[in-house]
Amino acid sequence: MLAAVDNPSNAVEWALAEMINQPDILDRACKELDQVVGRNRLVDESDLYRLNYIKACVKEAFRLHPIAAFNLPHVSMKETTVGGYFIPKNSHLLLSRRGLGRNPRIWEDPLVYKPKRHIVNKDSEVVLMDHDLRMISFSTGRRGCPAVLLGSTMATILLARLIQGFSWNPPPNTPGKIDLAESEGDLQLNKPLIAYAIPRLEPHVYKKLM
Ligand code: HEM
Repeated sequence: MLAAVDNPSNAVEWALAEMINQPDILDRACKELDQVVGRNRLVDESDLYRLNYIKACVKEAFRLHPIAAFNLPHVSMKETTVGGYFIPKNSHLLLSRRGLGRNPRIWEDPLVYKPKRHIVNKDSEVVLMDHDLRMISFSTGRRGCPAVLLGSTMATILLARLIQGFSWNPPPNTPGKIDLAESEGDLQLNKPLIAYAIPRLEPHVYKKLM
């Protein structure tokens, strides 16, 4: 239950921090929301399949800023070979989420937050899961996360509503960029994100939430 809450909130906090520092990415996400949803109603679950760029922003946060360094431990039930590595029976296996997501042999500019890398072409839908394990979001296989749809929906709607509802900027009287340092003890932002939010929709749209 904790992982179900922590994964989306960590990804969205990182995504928003990265996007505030790269306003062109934030602008593109706003434009997508304006085109798909408009400004007279709040984005809803039924809109998500058309919000490819927003999903790419969430996926990029999962790639670059996983909440944990390793996947849950697994034990091999028999000997096998995966990706050229021989794995004896009963081995304890830990996949590095950060190592995969930042692997320079797979990802160009691996340390740069670049959502468009997940958009293969304009007709294909972005999904947050990566079956090829080029990165770990929900993992895959029999012990992969059973809540891919729920987890994807929670993370995407959270980011979509924050971006649709508010214009985001660094707080006034600060250096003008969010500090993206990682915490030394874990992979979360070292300092919780503090940002300046200005409503960008008409007041009646927010009243529907109350
Ligand atoms: C964005 C949200 C989420 C992410 C990124 C996520 C990611 C993951 C990952 C990486 C694993 C480990 C898979 C493996 O060991 O190979 C996992 C396992 C699991 N997740 Fe999620 N998860 C999310 C949301 C949820 C939610 C909402 C639920 C339940 C309501 C859930 C339930 C579980 C369970 C029960 C497992 C253990 C599966 C097993 O060992 O067979 N997850 N999740």
